[in-house]
Amino acid sequence: MSIAELPPDGTKSKQAERVTTTKLRAMKERGEKITMLTAYDYSTARLVDAAGIDAILVGDSLGQVMLGYDSTVPVTMEDMLHHTKAVSRGVQRALVIGDMPFMSYSVSEEEAMRNAARFLQEAGARAVKMEGAAVAPTVARLVAAGVPVMGHLGLTPQSINVLGRHRVQGKTREAAARILRDAIRLEEAGIFALVLETVPAPLAALITRRLSVPTIGIGGGAGCDGQVQIVHDLLGWYPDFTPKHARKYADLGAALGEAFQQYREDVRAGRFPAPEHSFPMDEALLEGLEGQAEAG
Ligand code: KIV
Repeated sequence: MSIAELPPDGTKSKQAERVTTTKLRAMKERGEKITMLTAYDYSTARLVDAAGIDAILVGDSLGQVMLGYDSTVPVTMEDMLHHTKAVSRGVQRALVIGDMPFMSYSVSEEEAMRNAARFLQEAGARAVKMEGAAVAPTVARLVAAGVPVMGHLGLTPQSINVLGRHRVQGKTREAAARILRDAIRLEEAGIFALVLETVPAPLAALITRRLSVPTIGIGGGAGCDGQVQIVHDLLGWYPDFTPKHARKYADLGAALGEAFQQYREDVRAGRFPAPEHSFPMDEALLEGLEGQAEAG
């Protein structure tokens, strides 16, 4: 451990075990798959971190799954910082990446720099993510200033109003060439990793071979260096919808619904709370209490 890695009191800390952007790159070099999940709150982040997931993305997908919007477009910097702070408080090991929301990095490079800095300084993130390749010059400036940036190509949900609908990207030769070109451009600008969303598996595999930085697929097939999923999709926790690229590892939606119904029935039937959920006292203390209270 170098002196730069030591905390101010000189003792070794949990920081030494933290997943860093360079560790992710080393994992790619060793052919070790990288795991990443989204999280938006403290309790989920703790569980994801304790499960040994390498990176946690506080995705702007929280617009849909946490806030009930129909896209990520309405999500604000304040929304993102609020959730990123909660996640950071729950994480000891994983790399926390804050997703820069729509228009927070495309108006001007200065504004992008200021907003990215807020993720690191105020919210405890250790990297940020941005969509598209038009941001390449901004990526270069941020990386030079010490902000690690993850890229995101393929289906870029913040552009839903331009794309029209969620569909596979890069299916024609021209579209595939554009995504490959954009990936190389972002790598040259300094990204530490690249999310490839909803692109054909062979294209994602080719980009993965071409880049030195890790690719993280979501609907990009098994040839990527790692995988990311939206935690609600994995848990069956988003009302009535599991995308094709997700596997449901639990049916939390059904389990939670049943628990809420059971609670309702127990309360209505007088089965809850039971004596073990209540606090006893010496009932002799209550004798004459009403009269005493009324007398003031
Ligand atoms: O916002 C998000 O959760 C994302 C993932 C889909 C990669 O960007």
